[in-house]
Amino acid sequence: MKNSVVVITGGNGGIGNIVVNKLLKENSKVIVLDINETNNLEIKNHPNYEFLKTDVTDYKQIEKVHDIIKNKYQHIDYLISMAGVNMKSEVGGLKSITIEDIDKSIKLNLNSHIYLVKIMLDLLKIKNTDEMKSIIIISSINAISTYGLPAYSAAKSGLYGFMHSVVNELGESNIRINTISLGTVPHMHQEVKGDEYFENYIKDIPIKKFVRPTDVADTIYALLEITKCINGQNIILDMGQSL
Ligand SMILES: NC(=O)c1ccc[n+]([C@@H]2O[C@H](COP(=O)([O-])OP(=O)(O)OC[C@H]3O[C@@H](n4cnc5c(N)ncnc54)[C@H](O)[C@@H]3O)[C@@H](O)[C@H]2O)c1
Repeated sequence: MKNSVVVITGGNGGIGNIVVNKLLKENSKVIVLDINETNNLEIKNHPNYEFLKTDVTDYKQIEKVHDIIKNKYQHIDYLISMAGVNMKSEVGGLKSITIEDIDKSIKLNLNSHIYLVKIMLDLLKIKNTDEMKSIIIISSINAISTYGLPAYSAAKSGLYGFMHSVVNELGESNIRINTISLGTVPHMHQEVKGDEYFENYIKDIPIKKFVRPTDVADTIYALLEITKCINGQNIILDMGQSL
């Protein structure tokens, strides 16, 4: 990964921070697009870290950062589309979700990923080599099971359809695209024992352990750099939770 240019959205979240840290340790140049800046000083002060404040639901902001990246680096090697959250009102299902939150959730959890890939695509194509480029989009096992969150789950399953629909088009330019569907991933600082929310989910997991952000970082690294034959797949990372 040395000297690779990686763009990651949502890179300052609980999972994103750990992924960014791993990519920096692998000597990549990491450009984070997020609405929030990290408060992790090890990341913030790293010479290969760059933060471009971006609301990914606004395609004009993505176009602006596209131009900044184009001027500075001319190309991207890897694109990781991770920004996503569910809306509070959808936790109670259809009876509580507001119409406004349906739109917000679909815009963030589905549309923004399509905007990002469409707008950044020419930067992934630029280098005229036989090298493969790679896109990873972060989905959720909400897309394949019965965990509620109607708009979030619909959006996360829409990401599979999007990924399948563009795999041939991207393949012509040596670009791989995959989705990773995460099960429950407690952040590094979150204590699992004694927490009602996590204790409820761990009951469904055959091996009584959660996937942690470091596992997500290792899987992303492997998908980008080691298992380069994987293309057009949805990789489920959930310790068997969704079975
Ligand atoms: N943690 C889990 O249990 C879990 C489970 C399944 C899927 N996921 C998925 O993994 C990804 C990361 O989750 P996380 O747990 O790190 O969440 P998080 O809330 O800690 O991080 C989300 C990040 O996205 C950023 N973001 C939110 N709206 C944005 C916008 N409009 N534009 C740009 N950035 C924006 C936030 O600032 C934050 O840095 C998400 O796509 C989430 O749906 C997480």
